[in-house]
Amino acid sequence: MTTRSQTEPGSVVATSAGANGAFNNPGRAENKSEQKRDGQYGAIASLQSSAEPLLDIRNLSVDYVTPNGFARAVNNVSLSIRPGETLGLAGESGCGKSTLAFAVARLHKPPALISEGQILYQNRDVLTMKPRELRRFRWNEVSLVFQSAMNSLNPVITIGEQIIDVLLAHQKIRYDDAWSRGESLLKTVGIHPSRMSSFAHQLSGGMRQRVVIAIALALQPKLIIMDEPTTALDVVVEREIMDELYQLKDRFGFSILFISHDLSLMGEIADRIGIMYGGKLVELGPAREVFYHPSHPYTQGLINSFPTIHGPKDRLHGIAGNPINLLETPTGCYFQERCPRAFPLCHQREPELIQVKPLHQAACHELTEESSS
Ligand SMILES: Nc1ncnc2c1ncn2[C@@H]1O[C@H](COP(=O)(O)OP(=O)(O)O)[C@@H](O)[C@H]1O
Ligand code: SF4
Ligand SMILES: [Mg+2]
Repeated sequence: MTTRSQTEPGSVVATSAGANGAFNNPGRAENKSEQKRDGQYGAIASLQSSAEPLLDIRNLSVDYVTPNGFARAVNNVSLSIRPGETLGLAGESGCGKSTLAFAVARLHKPPALISEGQILYQNRDVLTMKPRELRRFRWNEVSLVFQSAMNSLNPVITIGEQIIDVLLAHQKIRYDDAWSRGESLLKTVGIHPSRMSSFAHQLSGGMRQRVVIAIALALQPKLIIMDEPTTALDVVVEREIMDELYQLKDRFGFSILFISHDLSLMGEIADRIGIMYGGKLVELGPAREVFYHPSHPYTQGLINSFPTIHGPKDRLHGIAGNPINLLETPTGCYFQERCPRAFPLCHQREPELIQVKPLHQAACHELTEESSS
């Protein structure tokens, strides 16, 4: 199937369960996020087995049409996110994370083109939604927060007006009620309600990003896509915001697609982590499994590139070489040029995702060779 669709302006799309919509809380335990940070896989297993995924991405491919040919930035990716789940997506810059995030909300714009696959949201095909349904989907079901979003707040309108604009546009609500709702949204993200009258330049970067998250929460979405939401912030502010986000998540039960290059943060906050390389999903599994027992040489390289706070002082080993040029992809494994363990088969045949442990998959010929030897 080939779908071309036009991006709507704006880097924040706030949406949610909408007009009548309460957040639906699937009944997670108060301290479940803490438990998962301590590696309780029972929670993950139950998420895995819960009936319907909220979002089901099937064999999705997205190309950029360039003068030099098609650059396949998302290559046959299948992923699902369950209600209340946080799915982390990591990989070096240029591996296709943002392209995937935009495509999920059909917010990609030319030269990006969805060339294959399906995106099912609660069993509805996002790629065939008509404009009205798509608008509802974008604004009432899913919200997006991007790295640059905090810089996209309107400088000449107060924070309060920007929040209530979203409420008034999408809910049948009186101005006064919208204002009170705006105040309570600010409180929810740790900002004093008096800041409703502030302008963006009067707030710190951390506060602006909190405002953006408040806008993203305004309509009570079931899924929040966060693309490097805290990358521009310092570590202390990042942690504060993540803690608050997770308190909100436990309260309201939304799912998160969390994109970041920070695997250690991901190891703490995500239920599962997917690793992308050259547009492909090369590893997917429970967060701590992927973080502590990575199966793919690329994931191992990524993890070795990060310092640990608590572990022994080891020399950091980056990944040699550069990410592949999407216009000149090799036969076989895309990681072959940089892989310290490449062997002849890697240059001949593309590795497919295989099960390495329950719920844990990776795409590397070495794993198949090990299991067959
Ligand atoms: N407008 C564009 N035209 C051509 N190629 C693009 C365009 N935008 C992104 N790409 C390419 O798509 C690939 C994936 O980019 P992106 O999704 O932004 O990666 P990430 O978010 O992981 O850094 C990159 O190789 C990038 O160069
Ligand atoms: S398939 Fe081969 S080149 Fe690719 S990651 Fe595995 S060992 Fe390395
Ligand atoms: Mg990106």
